[in-house]
Amino acid sequence: MQYRTLGRTGLRLSEISLGTSQTFRVAARDDESQCIRIVHEALDRGINFFDSSPSYWESERVLGRALEGRRGEALIATKVRAEDEAAARASIERSFGHLRTDMIDLLQIHSMLAWREVTPVIQEYQRQGRVRFIGLTEDKPENFGEVLTAMRTEDYDSIQVLYSLADQRCCEKLLPLAQEMNIGVLAVRTILNLLADKVARASPAHRAAEPTPQGERARERLREAQARGEFAALERYGIQSPGQALLKYALNHPAVSSVIVATGKVERIAENVAASDGRALASDACAWLEELIA
Ligand SMILES: NC(=O)c1ccc[n+]([C@@H]2O[C@H](COP(=O)([O-])OP(=O)(O)OC[C@H]3O[C@@H](n4cnc5c(N)ncnc54)[C@H](OP(=O)(O)O)[C@@H]3O)[C@@H](O)[C@H]2O)c1
Repeated sequence: MQYRTLGRTGLRLSEISLGTSQTFRVAARDDESQCIRIVHEALDRGINFFDSSPSYWESERVLGRALEGRRGEALIATKVRAEDEAAARASIERSFGHLRTDMIDLLQIHSMLAWREVTPVIQEYQRQGRVRFIGLTEDKPENFGEVLTAMRTEDYDSIQVLYSLADQRCCEKLLPLAQEMNIGVLAVRTILNLLADKVARASPAHRAAEPTPQGERARERLREAQARGEFAALERYGIQSPGQALLKYALNHPAVSSVIVATGKVERIAENVAASDGRALASDACAWLEELIA
């Protein structure tokens, strides 16, 4: 596993980190111990950054349980999605309890909700030494203008955005500004809707998970190429699976600090961690992938 610095925070994050939204929900419903095995396998293979949210059903609670006795090996990122200061405080207090920790490494404002009101609350926790860094998340491109405005206030250490072979809408303005201001970038949804089977979504908050028409086309092309065994062409770059190709592609962007990827399967961790082998994806391999979905 290779590590990168998260912008100006100085935190060293594993290039591949673990997301916990839909997958921990699905897995937790059947067998919570499966999620705990996934977290332990991730730690054992060098993943040190875990992304959660109070909006991800059982995720914070299960992650907290999984990290018991191993908290020192992990950096915890979670979120706050609250309409006002009081709701933000209540949510953050619940997060400490669920995560079984007295310090959150990165607290992100989920989908930018009430960011102007919620930021001073998080800053208060920072002053108390209970939160280390503040981040923003946004998955809707129509709100990117708001993200740019917030980033320019210099109050935020990271942004978490959708970035993949098929969705590069953040590259126009968000990633260049992040680079200019040394704000860390966490890339998400590199695989979902492209290779992974879509997971049932129960909440309107997750509508943004729906693929774009370009995403649908890309998904079809990738699946056809996979069925025809065409990904074997990438073996000479050390790529053993289509998922690794997508992760390596995302890691190629110089602004990206870590790719957060979720899984409900223990064996997937080894496959995904192998994408971080210190070798940048060669430009002809990138071009091959881009042509495939064009
Ligand atoms: N703040 C936000 O608004 C926001 C939005 C999106 C995501 N996120 C964060 O980012 C994390 C990741 O995003 P995501 O869960 O939407 O998408 P993702 O990580 O791109 O996709 C997850 C899906 O991909 C599958 N998968 C993982 N590795 C694979 C591989 N090598 N080959 C084929 N399939 C693979 C998993 O299924 P298996 O169980 O089969 O492995 C899972 O269903 C989330 O869990 C969350 O923590 C945040």
